[in-house]
Amino acid sequence: MAELGHDVIGVDVDQAKIDALAVGRAPFFEPGLPELLTSAVATGRLRFTTDMSEVADADVHFVAVGTPQKKGEGEFAADLTYVDAAVTGLIPYLADGALVVGKSTVPVGTAARLAELVTAGAPHASLAWNPEFLREGFAVKDTLGPDRLVYGVAAGAAGERATAQLDEIYATALKTDTPRIVTDFATAELVKVAANAFLATKISFINAMAEVAEATGADVTQLADAIGHDARIGRRFLNSGLGFGGGCLPKDIRAFRARGEELGLGSTLAFLGEMDSINLRRRDRMVELTRESLGGDLSGKRVAVLGLAFKPDSDDVRDSPALDVAARLQEEGAIVIATDPEAVHTSQRIRPELTYATTVAEAIVEADAVLVLTEWKEYRALTPEDLSAATGRVILDGRNCLDRDLWRSSEWTYRSLGRP
Ligand code: UDX
Repeated sequence: MAELGHDVIGVDVDQAKIDALAVGRAPFFEPGLPELLTSAVATGRLRFTTDMSEVADADVHFVAVGTPQKKGEGEFAADLTYVDAAVTGLIPYLADGALVVGKSTVPVGTAARLAELVTAGAPHASLAWNPEFLREGFAVKDTLGPDRLVYGVAAGAAGERATAQLDEIYATALKTDTPRIVTDFATAELVKVAANAFLATKISFINAMAEVAEATGADVTQLADAIGHDARIGRRFLNSGLGFGGGCLPKDIRAFRARGEELGLGSTLAFLGEMDSINLRRRDRMVELTRESLGGDLSGKRVAVLGLAFKPDSDDVRDSPALDVAARLQEEGAIVIATDPEAVHTSQRIRPELTYATTVAEAIVEADAVLVLTEWKEYRALTPEDLSAATGRVILDGRNCLDRDLWRSSEWTYRSLGRP
């Protein structure tokens, strides 16, 4: 927002995060963000605080806090504690005409409830819902040049005013004809969860085809290429492998399903449970493939795991398939040495019991098998020579990202998910 020319103040309850941001240090790995942060802080258009009262003269307040999956056993709904606390905390500081803009991914119905809360507490302020579609690893690019803008606004004059305020904020993107959809609260909330449910379904569809391919000797990658040439299907998001993880897709499809149950639409969204199961089965299959490839027993076998982040160009390990597989292999008796270009420190926090290496060279020493579980560019480019220090000659490609012919033409046993 500061890069786009606005005066921005960022608020968080975490003092350590605020201190780091104030000196231009990003709290997570995201390509391009440190540079952007440093330059924005230097212009004076971006500052940070933990003191909510400092936002009192802002025209627009974005609420971008998390809506994680609730913690209890069998709980799938979104935890709205943080969104509720942020909106409630803002109310005393809302100036006349101020607009609260929800960015967080929320169950349909939340915006209407929060709008009532805002109007009750600050009668001359209003609320809009403006879902966020950025992808980790491309966050800067997606934010500066979004592929669409969705505004969920109230009916009537308040909605028109909110639309004008949002248009002013997004003036740069609108100048380049970025599609803009102005709609009601419920549609805006649903756009986000529907988009993520669709993407998750696409990935699980191809991973279901991978299961069929494994049973029949077919090649799921070629299958994806061939169906992907049909423009109605498209090749993007048809990469089979370990499946989806991260802070969005898994919890969003679960929360959507939970909301469906509440709305009496349990059977309508039941298929999302199936997508979740297909996705999680890929992890079981990876553990099984490792066991099979190591002679049927994992105990005492040294396994090098390359990749821990839920996707490349991120240090995020929330619901990461790679970290999950690494932990399960260790639980089943293997000696796991795991590495990742960026996600070792984040993995250590969640899985302190694993052994970590800082480089591939260190991770593969005396390894009986090497597993590539996140398709970082540097791992995709690995050659048999690079891994010659390993003891075994077994490489398992959990992301169908290696050059299969190259590995097959060497002394290594190459195996992957969904390909013979
Ligand atoms: C997702 C949505 O793409 C984004 O629009 C939304 O705002 C937030 O959620 P993100 O979580 O950053 O973004 O990751 P995404 O690129 O969607 O990948 C999610 C997971 O799916 C990753 O674990 C990735 O490895 C996996 N994936 C993706 C596949 O397994 N196959 C694919 O073909 C694509």
